[in-house]
Amino acid sequence: MAPGEDTGEIRERRQSDRAGFVPLIALSVIASVIGVAIGLAIDWFPTAAATQAGPIDTLWDVLVIVSVPVFVGVTATILYMVWRFRMRPGQEMEDGAPIHGNTRLEVIWTIIPALVILGLCVYAYAVLEDIEDAPAAQEMQVGVVGQQFTWTFQYPAGSEGDERKLVECPGKPAEGEKPVTSNQLYLPINESVKFKICSRDVLHSFWIPDFRMKIDAVPGIATDFRVTPNKLGKYEIVCAELCGIGHAYMRQTVHVVPREEFDAWLEKQGDRGGSAGGGQSAGGGSGASAAVDGKTLYTEGNGTSTACGGCHKLADAGTAGGVGPDLDDSLQGKDAAYIREGIVAPDKTVLEGFQGGIMPKNYGEVLSDQEVEALVTYLDETVK
Ligand code: CUA
Repeated sequence: MAPGEDTGEIRERRQSDRAGFVPLIALSVIASVIGVAIGLAIDWFPTAAATQAGPIDTLWDVLVIVSVPVFVGVTATILYMVWRFRMRPGQEMEDGAPIHGNTRLEVIWTIIPALVILGLCVYAYAVLEDIEDAPAAQEMQVGVVGQQFTWTFQYPAGSEGDERKLVECPGKPAEGEKPVTSNQLYLPINESVKFKICSRDVLHSFWIPDFRMKIDAVPGIATDFRVTPNKLGKYEIVCAELCGIGHAYMRQTVHVVPREEFDAWLEKQGDRGGSAGGGQSAGGGSGASAAVDGKTLYTEGNGTSTACGGCHKLADAGTAGGVGPDLDDSLQGKDAAYIREGIVAPDKTVLEGFQGGIMPKNYGEVLSDQEVEALVTYLDETVK
């Protein structure tokens, strides 16, 4: 074979290769349009329940519109090349055409993706700035304490007052403050709230999917984010950082309610003596007015605590939780002291087949002495 023939053949092949890219490009465009349409049609997120959700959902849509064609284009090109330049019978011993690089092509495929990424970064940063903007009006602040395996929320005492100081990390009240402590998060609708987030032990991550906001709870430092809930309802609070054996159970509820309902709730918690850990003695007297029903405490909690029935089985209360021991069995023949210890110091005795550290250790804080006693009496009398 003479060198001249070789060159001619290569030139011919290159021309036909170029022609072959037309269907590739057409196919990529069609697939991209379909892919983007599907990407935008999918309902990716739960309810949007905060003003922050709008810009974030739009950001997501823009990312879908930009990234789907990139994915489709790269995939289509790879598949096309594999097919187009496959080895045909008789070509086993042939070498490919010599290639010495193409500077122009390399510059193009470096600059275009760099510009796309830079553009998206600038846009995402602008969205972050926008949603983290402090409101003109005064905003409420709520302390969030993560610990294995529960969230505790701290509200500055009193529903009014200009001085709303945040709690200090890791969850101790600021000097002179007696925050209301709760395992339930209540927020007034259409008001900006700033969370100050701490951890008492390991890394957790405070996430409310319906608000779209999430941040790590880091031992030793305080992190924060703000939201403005704009839809009444109950939404899930999730721990999004693998934090130990009970990670999956570190789920609680945020109640978005009208301002009056929020004030009433907060006042009730204050009266109940819900003021922070160690303040039980102070709460003892004031809470005496309301009769405490052990069964209600067991099935519903006290409005701030999580309910026992979510994790434990108890025939009398009709609860079937399987996370912790079946109380009809495990409390059989036990005395009141044993039951009390199981509530306030759950890790002292861990039953076979269960692991310590899953049940929150703060029931002694979120329940008043009186409530603990009511619960103990109820369980003691129910399980005989
Ligand atoms: Cu806390 Cu996962």
